Amino acid sequence: TARKILVEFQEACETPLPRLRQVVDAMAVEMHAGLVSEGGSKLKMLPTFIDHLPDGNEKGLYYAVDLGGTNFRVLRTQLGGLEGRVIKQEYEEVAIPPELMLGTSEQLFDFIAKELVSFVAREGEDFRLHEGQSREIGFTFSFPCKQTAVNSGTLLQWTKGFKVNDAIGQDVVAALQGSIERRGYKMRIAALVNDTVGTLAGGRYWNNDVMIAVILGTGTNACYVERAESISKWGGELPKSGQMVINMEWGNFWSSHLPRTYVDELLDNESLNPGEYGFEKMISGMYLGDCVRRVLVRMAQQAGIFGPHVPHKLLEAFTLQTPDMSKMHHDDSSDLKMVAEVLKTVYGIHNTTLGIRKIVLAVCDIVCQRGARLAAAGIVGILKKIGRDGSTANGFIRRNDVNGIHDELTVNSIGGSGKTVVAMDGGLYEHYSKFRNYMQQAVRELLGDAAKNVFIELSKDGSGIGAAILAASHAEYVPT
Ligand code: BG6
Ligand code: GLC
Repeated sequence: TARKILVEFQEACETPLPRLRQVVDAMAVEMHAGLVSEGGSKLKMLPTFIDHLPDGNEKGLYYAVDLGGTNFRVLRTQLGGLEGRVIKQEYEEVAIPPELMLGTSEQLFDFIAKELVSFVAREGEDFRLHEGQSREIGFTFSFPCKQTAVNSGTLLQWTKGFKVNDAIGQDVVAALQGSIERRGYKMRIAALVNDTVGTLAGGRYWNNDVMIAVILGTGTNACYVERAESISKWGGELPKSGQMVINMEWGNFWSSHLPRTYVDELLDNESLNPGEYGFEKMISGMYLGDCVRRVLVRMAQQAGIFGPHVPHKLLEAFTLQTPDMSKMHHDDSSDLKMVAEVLKTVYGIHNTTLGIRKIVLAVCDIVCQRGARLAAAGIVGILKKIGRDGSTANGFIRRNDVNGIHDELTVNSIGGSGKTVVAMDGGLYEHYSKFRNYMQQAVRELLGDAAKNVFIELSKDGSGIGAAILAASHAEYVPT
């Protein structure tokens, strides 16, 4: 029966505290392994070449383009230095034509260049370049890139809904630069920035205690400030600052402690990147709705919850979007009107009984809670790696710490006040309040007393502005 399928699924998804702690430890161990050698872990732990973060002194007019979330964005900001900060900012947003997500590299970069150039053409009088300054751009590109400098990097693979095969292995900065130049414009891409890194920079611009940034949106990922000398795989000279931002690509994290079910297996098989980004597929907005749908399919097929025939559309992958799942999940009416409404509008399912609606709601809750608690474990794993999870005394590392993953004396050697701020962005975190609440609750459970020093703050759209600010701090021309 449906109830039996529900209970089995629930048990398979459980994330009690001891299990979460194993995920925390595994995350910290994998982080360490990923820093030691390339391919040392499924966590790519990509050096970003960002070795100093904005401090508020940045001045001038800068642009950003932002590709990889639900919308494509272009943005300009006039920075006024410490006193003025962000004087003025404007942005435009367009949905990416779906065919471009599966087309050719040239089409994709031409689209970005076209939008950028036409946005630049509408620059008003309030925005001013300094004499001799050309337009410099921060390029937020929310996919894994192997960087060779702050403004160059090759695409390692696509994730989320993109699959533009000929772009893999290309230098994405050169590709965009080329498209801009072919249109007869002169602009310089000063920084290539993952969305997590943009969020970190945007957060740090206002608050010095920001050490970690996490995206919970279409995809999920995190970056953080690492001590440069802990990055054993780093071949070059160590940066003077002694620090480097690491893009973890935690979406690809894997551990035997993760509660994997038949749903995850089926979803993975039908995804654009099978075998990859398993953590992302349990957590992020692109996939949560589909996890729910797959449980409903099983209930429809084996227990006939939607009548004798399984509705056709229910069998189609990715038809239940996470915003619809969230609508059902937040339905607090006594007869679960919204659950009925979504089933009707999305799948043409009429006349569900209250009992069935309750089961659907319960499936949403299980999937949401699992994702949120795993994201929390990921965050605490990072806190553990940088010695800010409270398991260390007085800022120093206990020797013989479990797994030996704490680097000696990491604690408080970077950043100062003892507070740690995690800058968050992404539609899932922003709009799905039950997800957010489950996540925060799990962070508190895991950290115990240490939770009082950890602050999770929404840094909305921080990544676009963060990229523009990084363009400023890596600009060729520095206004005085
Ligand atoms: C935005 C960033 O604020 O958040 C994007 O600027 C990022 O680059 C996005 O990808 C994540 O949000 P979503 O929910 O649209 O995937
Ligand atoms: C995917 C991308 C990653 C990005 C994340 C959030 O996991 O691979 O680079 O940061 O989505 O947008």
